[in-house]
Amino acid sequence: MNVHVLVPAAGSGSRLSGDIRKQYLELGDQPVLVRTLARLAALPQVTAIHLIVPEEDVAFCRSDLVEHYQLDKIGAVIVGGDERQDSVRNGLEACGAASQDVILVHDGVRPFFPQEQIGPLVQLAAIEGAALLAIPAQDTIKEVFDGRVRSTLDRRLLWQVQTPQAFRCDRIREAHRRAHAGGYTGTDDASLIEWCGWPVAVLPGHQYNIKITTPADLVLARALLECGEVSLT
Ligand code: C5P
Repeated sequence: MNVHVLVPAAGSGSRLSGDIRKQYLELGDQPVLVRTLARLAALPQVTAIHLIVPEEDVAFCRSDLVEHYQLDKIGAVIVGGDERQDSVRNGLEACGAASQDVILVHDGVRPFFPQEQIGPLVQLAAIEGAALLAIPAQDTIKEVFDGRVRSTLDRRLLWQVQTPQAFRCDRIREAHRRAHAGGYTGTDDASLIEWCGWPVAVLPGHQYNIKITTPADLVLARALLECGEVSLT
C-alpha cells in the first residue's frame, strides 16, 4: 500500500500575482509551504507528494520551490480547479494512486502537524475508509444570523477538524465523483464521505497544528518555534 499526499494550494489567495501569498510567508527563512512539504517528505509512511496549484504557478513551483529547495518525494505538480473541491478532484485523477492506496489531503499552511499521528491515521483510513485529526472545541460556538444569536450549539459534541485527512483512494475518488455529479460542495473532503453516508474515524490532533493564514497566526507560529514548543524537523 502506497501513501500519496495531495496538497491543494490553488486558491486565488495563493496566486503568484498581487500581494504575498500566505504559503509563501517565511517561517525560519523558508516559505511555510516549503516547510510543510519538507516535513511531509520526511515521514517514512509517505510515498509521494502532489502539489496542486494554479496553472500560471506550475513552472514557478517546479523551479523556485521543488528544485530550489531540493524537495524530496514530489510527484506531480497538478493544475487546480475553480473551487478547492475541484482542485482535490483534479489531484485524485492525476496522482496515479491505486484503489487500495491511502490518500492524505493536507493544507500547505499547516507545517506543525503531529508526525506521531500519521502512522495511526493511515492505518485507520486503510481499515475504515476515512479518518481525520480533530481537537475538542475550546470556545462556545453560537449560530448567528443578521447580527443576532440564533442558537447555542452543544460544545460537548463539537470538534475542530484539522488536516491531514486520510482516505482509502477508492472511497475518496467515489465520494468526489458522486458529489460532483450530485452538485454537492463541502468545505473539506471528509464532508463528501459523510454526504455519501460512509463513516469517518476521528483521531486526536494537536493544538499546535495551526493553519497559518493571517499575520497573527504567523506571530504565533514564530513564537512557538522560538520557545521550542514545535520544531520544523
Ligand atoms: O480558501 P480556503 O482556505 O478554503 O482554501 C483552502 C485551501 O484550498 C488553500 O490551500 C487553497 O489554496 C486551496 N484551494 C485550491 N483550489 C481552489 C481554491 C482553494 O487548491 N480553487
